[in-house]
Amino acid sequence: MEQYAIKGGTPLVGEVEIGGAKNAALPILAAAIMTDDTVHVDNVPDVRDVNVLLDAMQSIGVIVKREERHKVTINAAGISSLVVDDDNIRRIRASYYLIGAMLGKYKNAEVTLPGGCDIGCRGIDQHIKGFRALGANVSLEHGMIITKTEKLSGAHIYMDLVSVGATINVMMAASMAEGKTIIENAAKEPHVVDVANFLNSMGANIKGAGTDVIRIKGVSKFHGTDYTIIPDQIEAGTFMFAAAITHGDVTVKNVIPKHLESISAKLNEIGCEVMEEDDCVRVVASKPLHHTHVKTLPYPGFPTDMQPQITVALGLASGTSIVTESIFENRFKYVDELTRMGADIKVESSTAIIDGVKRYTGADITAPDLRAGAALVLAMLAADGFSTIDEIKYIQRGYEDFHLKLKKLGAEIELVESEKDVTRFKMKIV
Ligand code: EPZ
Repeated sequence: MEQYAIKGGTPLVGEVEIGGAKNAALPILAAAIMTDDTVHVDNVPDVRDVNVLLDAMQSIGVIVKREERHKVTINAAGISSLVVDDDNIRRIRASYYLIGAMLGKYKNAEVTLPGGCDIGCRGIDQHIKGFRALGANVSLEHGMIITKTEKLSGAHIYMDLVSVGATINVMMAASMAEGKTIIENAAKEPHVVDVANFLNSMGANIKGAGTDVIRIKGVSKFHGTDYTIIPDQIEAGTFMFAAAITHGDVTVKNVIPKHLESISAKLNEIGCEVMEEDDCVRVVASKPLHHTHVKTLPYPGFPTDMQPQITVALGLASGTSIVTESIFENRFKYVDELTRMGADIKVESSTAIIDGVKRYTGADITAPDLRAGAALVLAMLAADGFSTIDEIKYIQRGYEDFHLKLKKLGAEIELVESEKDVTRFKMKIV
């Protein structure tokens, strides 16, 4: 089984190129089936979740070509089925974007219920509420979501909670409904805006994405487009925290600094220097880290997808810090593993109370999910001694070449497949 073997203690220094945003790529690639014309998408990250989605699209007759590692061409003119029931797609949450896309274009979709990281109960009631408001019949049968209608009609939809997935899904379906749709209490994440921009580039008429009211005038047909996905806010944030946690000096390149404001603000608060330029951000952590409080919130608040990374940093900061998770109730599962590495953290319901320690100690642990897995790698890079982390398939769901990018920054990390490889790594490093 693949693992990362790590020897901690080296500050990360240098530059890292950030790839395209996974959570924008997933809905954008799904939405590319809403036209019979060819769609060219650039800056597509080569990560597992994206590849699983592309395979599922191919399984229903969509022609998908990876022209280059990050360039994908999609043509859905020959789509042969509106039923997506692929074993792999069960494992990703974003399978549900095929529902909004197929319902919008074909008024008909059957897709397996979504999976994804085990970070808490992840409802889809708001997606269903939105589809029904547009006039679709929606039922859940034998693990499938089945949506059908003769036609979709615009509607006024108030989301009961801020949901990235429901906002995007309903926006996709409504963009091909008859008449006007208003989505209130919409999610404002950069990837919501990116999907709206992509749909508009195919001929949709969507206004207000990035605010909490999105207005859509339905159109009957989309055309082909050539589109470049925005940089990944969370990949960038993870490398920014890597600098803080290892007391390094890292420049994340190819980013939109505006999308990173809440992350930069917290890094400043804990004692790092953050310098922004047009499309890069440099984080220098030359002083000891100090405590702070943080609560995860929908954008522009501090992202839940950065919660494990900031917790790992605060675990090494002087004083007592408090991290409150307000989006997913089960997102502190990794704390047990971090405690095994020497952290002093108590979790009470949705709050982690952290008493900073001087250092972590290397350990052999398992990645519990995508972001926590990445955060635990950062802890290992700062820890005394050797560590290994398995189940890295979770990390590969959302980070392209994670260990190679870390290695380029000076990290002592290797992808290994056996005990022998681990021993070899240890002998090489010592
Ligand atoms: C997206 O998940 C991301 N996934 C997540 O990224 C991210 O953590 C999350 O948004 C929040 O930013 C993708 O984009 C594929 P939500 P999503 O709908 O859309 C509840 C990562 O690490 N809810 O905004 O599933 C839900 O349970 C991943 O890259 C309902 O109750 O998140 C959660 O508590 C993990 N009913 C909250 O809302 C619904 O119908 C926010 O969920 C929808 C959501």
